Amino acid sequence: SSQLLQTTILNEEFLNIDLSKYASTVATIHRHIEETKDEPTGWINSPLEENSQLISSVLSVASEIKLNADVLVVIGVGGSYLGAKAIQDALTPYFGSHPNGIEVVYVGHNMSGAYIHRLIKSLVNKEVYINVISKSGSTMEPALAFRVFRQYMEERYGDKAKQRIIATTDPEKGILKGIAEKHGYRQFTIPQNIGGRYSVLTAVGLLPIAVAGVDIIQLLAGAKHAAILLKEESLEKNEAYRYAVIRNELYNQGYKVELLASFEPALANFHDWWKQLFGESEGKDEKGLFPATVNFSTDLHAIGQFIQDGSPILFETLLHFHEIADDYAVPYDVRDEDHLNYLSNRSFNDINATSKQGTAIAHAEGGVPVIQLELDRLDAYHLGYLIYFFMKACAMSAYLVEVNPFDQPGVEAYKKKMLELLNNEESKVFERMSI
Ligand code: PA5
Repeated sequence: SSQLLQTTILNEEFLNIDLSKYASTVATIHRHIEETKDEPTGWINSPLEENSQLISSVLSVASEIKLNADVLVVIGVGGSYLGAKAIQDALTPYFGSHPNGIEVVYVGHNMSGAYIHRLIKSLVNKEVYINVISKSGSTMEPALAFRVFRQYMEERYGDKAKQRIIATTDPEKGILKGIAEKHGYRQFTIPQNIGGRYSVLTAVGLLPIAVAGVDIIQLLAGAKHAAILLKEESLEKNEAYRYAVIRNELYNQGYKVELLASFEPALANFHDWWKQLFGESEGKDEKGLFPATVNFSTDLHAIGQFIQDGSPILFETLLHFHEIADDYAVPYDVRDEDHLNYLSNRSFNDINATSKQGTAIAHAEGGVPVIQLELDRLDAYHLGYLIYFFMKACAMSAYLVEVNPFDQPGVEAYKKKMLELLNNEESKVFERMSI
């Protein structure tokens, strides 16, 4: 099988380097990632492993939910929801649900009382299932939301509530695991050797994605395609490693911000998944690229000015899919009062692609290094491929700056302070701050 993704650099002068100088470092990291048993690298081979049982149980629970509910409420934060939301939004209609799915909404990724209040109000007259997802089983945001929605389900459905609550968590430990066991909730497990932000292709992402109507078999097939190709050690053959090396080279040249940009608004949440993957994997020990994202052409009328000629701190990674499922043609208007007849009968997707080309050239000429990642179609197969591509590139990237891609010690700091404050220990915190 062949590469589904083409990487090009528009302004090669920034990368007038001999990539072969990275070859031995990349090979060493590659062997570590592929062979280590000490890190949570289960996601590397999972797309290649037998998974028919997982697929059939996800599909059968998804069918049950679609039959008995109007809406699935997914409770999770970080890696426990971003991937599902990313794929759902990329592949379901902007307005209304996918013909093969139902509405899937998310909670437990913030602590806004207004959000919870309004979500509950929106559920009136709708049949509901919930899927609570937490690997540790004790993260504050989803745990609080689960407290709310468990009671909500019990009040609405009485004894039948437990049939409508599905827990996705660690196979052995954690508070959520204990609750699920005690109350007989159905469970999906998150493999212990797969960390949160690398877990979208496990039940964490697959169940909500399937309920939303997206073809998870195609998604996993695309990931498998990538898992086979990206097993190559050599930089010439491994596109993910080449992308990792290019971004590392730009980072070393002083470009500290990577701006992921695309021209399809449906990808906004895919951007968020990417941002978390790279930000949490790479940003530690005072190192790492700052991952930022923009949606064009919307943001060309906002942050575009900065990109074109603000502080030269960023490079741009343009993500582009050549074919988008739906399109619309510019109508001919005999009045032509807006002088736009020269575009009549042109497709919007075509005009959008042309604006992408123009933007890339303008930014490159303005001195912004531009990397283009191009795929043929925005569909489940290509997104599965792309997810795997980014995860593999991310692991390589983090090791290139000599940080551990799989931990997140920095996330603990805010939690600690918040818990101190919630436990009424403000005084201790302020005392410490004034020392
Ligand atoms: O990538 C990660 O590990 C994190 O973003 C977690 O996914 C996130 O903190 C949620 O954790 P949990 O699933 O344990 O509730």
